[in-house]
Amino acid sequence: MFEYPDAAALEREFAKLRSLPPLVTSWEIERLRSELVGVEAGRRLLLQGGDCAETLDDCRSEPIAAKLKILLQMSLVLIHAGKKPVTRMGRFAGQYAKPRSSPTETRGGVTLPSYFGDLINRAEFSAAGRTPDPALLVEGYQHAGLTLNFIRALVDSGFADLHHPEYWDLSFFRHASLSAATRAEYERMVATLGDGIRFMEALGERSIQDLSSVEFFASHEGLNLYYESAQTRLVPRRRDYYCLTTHMPWIGERTRALDGAHVEFFRGIRNPVGVKLGPSSTAADAVGLSEALNPGNEPGKIVFITRLGAGKVRQVLPGLLEGVRAAGRKAAWVCDPMHANGMTTATGIKTRSFDAIKSELEAAYEVHEAVGVPFGGVHFELTGEDVTECVGGGAGVTEADLSTNYVSLCDPRLNYQQSLEMAFLLARKMGAGRVGN
Ligand code: PEP
Ligand code: CO
Repeated sequence: MFEYPDAAALEREFAKLRSLPPLVTSWEIERLRSELVGVEAGRRLLLQGGDCAETLDDCRSEPIAAKLKILLQMSLVLIHAGKKPVTRMGRFAGQYAKPRSSPTETRGGVTLPSYFGDLINRAEFSAAGRTPDPALLVEGYQHAGLTLNFIRALVDSGFADLHHPEYWDLSFFRHASLSAATRAEYERMVATLGDGIRFMEALGERSIQDLSSVEFFASHEGLNLYYESAQTRLVPRRRDYYCLTTHMPWIGERTRALDGAHVEFFRGIRNPVGVKLGPSSTAADAVGLSEALNPGNEPGKIVFITRLGAGKVRQVLPGLLEGVRAAGRKAAWVCDPMHANGMTTATGIKTRSFDAIKSELEAAYEVHEAVGVPFGGVHFELTGEDVTECVGGGAGVTEADLSTNYVSLCDPRLNYQQSLEMAFLLARKMGAGRVGN
C-alpha cells in the first residue's frame, strides 16, 4: 500500500492528532447502533451515499449542502415507498483515503506512488505531491471537522425540516429532460408525503417529532489506520473503545482479509463496522468476518455491503445470505450497486452505466425477498451536482457527454438527477411510489 518515508514527521503528526478532540461522540455511535438493529430486522432502511473520494478542496458549502439535499430527497422517496424510517449516512467528513489496485502509477516513463486520497498524498503527479505526507492526517481531520460542523449547523437550523421542502428546493424536477411521467410521479409523492406529515401531526407529537428530526451520520472507509487509531479511545464511563473519526467506518473489499491489519484493528472498537463483499466472497468469508469483528454476535454491529456486479448478483448473493443466516450470525445487508459495475470507454474514461447499477440493485432486492433476509438499504457513490460521470438515466448522459463535467478524481458518481431516479426505481421495487399509491 503506502508508506510514510519520514518516521519522525509521522510520529509528530500522529501525536498531534491523538491530542485533538473527537469528531463524533459515543452517544451518536450508540444511537446509530440501535438504528442498525432496526435495519437488520427489516424495520428500517439505511441510505448511505456520497463521493467516492472527498477532496480537501471540495470542503465548500455548495457541494456539502447539495449532498445533504440529495440524500434528504432520496430518503423521502424511500420513506414513502418503504413505509419505514430511513437512516441517512454520508460518505463524508473523512472519505479521504482510497485503496488502489496498484501501489504505483507510471506516466511517460516516470513511476511514482499512486494517489491514495487527500488524507495520504496529493493527486498532482510529481514526486513531492505523491509522497505520503503525515501532515495530511491533521489536515484531513480538520477538514472533516469543518464539514461535520457545517452539516450539524445546517441540520440544527432547519435546513432539513420536513415542513419546509422549499428549503431543499426541487427545481431539478422542472428540468426539461425529465419525462412528464416521472415529474408527475414525484409531485404526487410529495403531495402524499405532505398529507402523511399532516396526518401524523394530527395523531400526536411523538411521531412527527421522530419524522421531522432529521439526522445524518458520517461514514468513510477506514483505510488509514494511523488516522483511525489516533482518534480511537476509551470514553469516560464506558467500557469500550470508540473510533471517533466517524460513526461507521467500513472495511474495503481490498483490505478485508481475515488475518489482515484492518480486521484486527476494527474488531477492537464498539462502532458499527461496514464490510464490503465483492463477487469472489464466499459465505465462509462472511461468517469468518462476522465472528472476528463481532465475537458477541450482537445486533447492530456489522453491515455487510455487497458489491457483486449486475452479472453476478443473482449467482453470489443467495449463498452469502443463506450461509450467514445458517451460521446464526447477525448482520445488516446493504447493496452497493456501484463498485462492481465499473467500465472504461473506448476513449479510456472510467464510467458506470445507470442500467447496470439499476439492474444490480433490482436483482439484489429480489434475491433478498426470495431468500427472506431483509434488504437493509443502499450504498451509492453520488453527488448533488450536475456532473457527467455515469452514462444513462432519464437525462440520457452519453459517452460523448462524459467530458462535459467529469469531476471525480476516483470513481464516477451518480449525478443529482440519476440519484433521485435511482431512489424512485428502488421505491417502485419496494412496491410503492407508484402512480395512484
Ligand atoms: C469505495 O467504496 O470507494 C471502494 C473502493 O469500494 P470497494 O472496497 O468495495 O471496492
Ligand atoms: Co469508489
